[in-house]
Amino acid sequence: MKSLENGLFISFEGIDGAGKSTHIDALVAAFKAEFGADKVIQTREPGGTPLAEKLRQMILNDAMDALTESFLVFAARRDHLNKVIEPTLARGDVVLCDRFTDATFAYQGGGRGFDLKTLSYLEQITQQIRWLESDLEVKSSVSEPSIQIRQPDLTIWFDLPPEIAAERLAGARVPDKFEAQPVEFFRQVAAGYQKRMDENPARFAKINANQSRETVWADVLQAVESKGFLKKGRSA
Ligand code: TMP
Repeated sequence: MKSLENGLFISFEGIDGAGKSTHIDALVAAFKAEFGADKVIQTREPGGTPLAEKLRQMILNDAMDALTESFLVFAARRDHLNKVIEPTLARGDVVLCDRFTDATFAYQGGGRGFDLKTLSYLEQITQQIRWLESDLEVKSSVSEPSIQIRQPDLTIWFDLPPEIAAERLAGARVPDKFEAQPVEFFRQVAAGYQKRMDENPARFAKINANQSRETVWADVLQAVESKGFLKKGRSA
């Protein structure tokens, strides 16, 4: 088992309809059983703080250009990092987060075709660990290459063909702005996730979500246990 001295940050990704929710809930329960309920937080993006939840409503429902949308997702992320994620990790606790920055590269970058360099720049500004401690240092350290960027320790990507995700979503609820997009949009989103994984394969576990719920859950557990984040041998 790995020591959780620096906390543990796991994110969950996938196109809309990929079926991550039940598995996130189950993994939260597994972590709470192992570490104690007060050591584990379940959160989401966009969202996770009162301000970020307000921004979420705008991001999911209001029409805007891709740069505005990117500013809003990173603004929500910044508030979430400052108020929830960083304090939790600093206590040595576990953060299980439904989506993080890979979603921005997949949805705004892949789906909407927005400039990836701009997203990388916004990622650096938002997630530099030093800057999270002091706003005043933001301007001065923008070009320092050695600065550490906050990223999840593990990202579990639920990969499902967009056609199947669309079938699963059909009629489930009134779709938001993203859920209402055509299959081709989600093909680009999936390509965006694949690109992020190719750039950082060690951080990702790509799960085939086109299997029975039990098999997907077994794969999720295997991904977490093989990293030493949970003890092996628990039952589903
Ligand atoms: P959810 O339905 O899984 O809660 O996700 C909310 C939606 O927001 C989903 O369609 C993906 C989208 N999204 C982005 O477009 N960019 C982002 O950075 C994040 C975190 C989510």
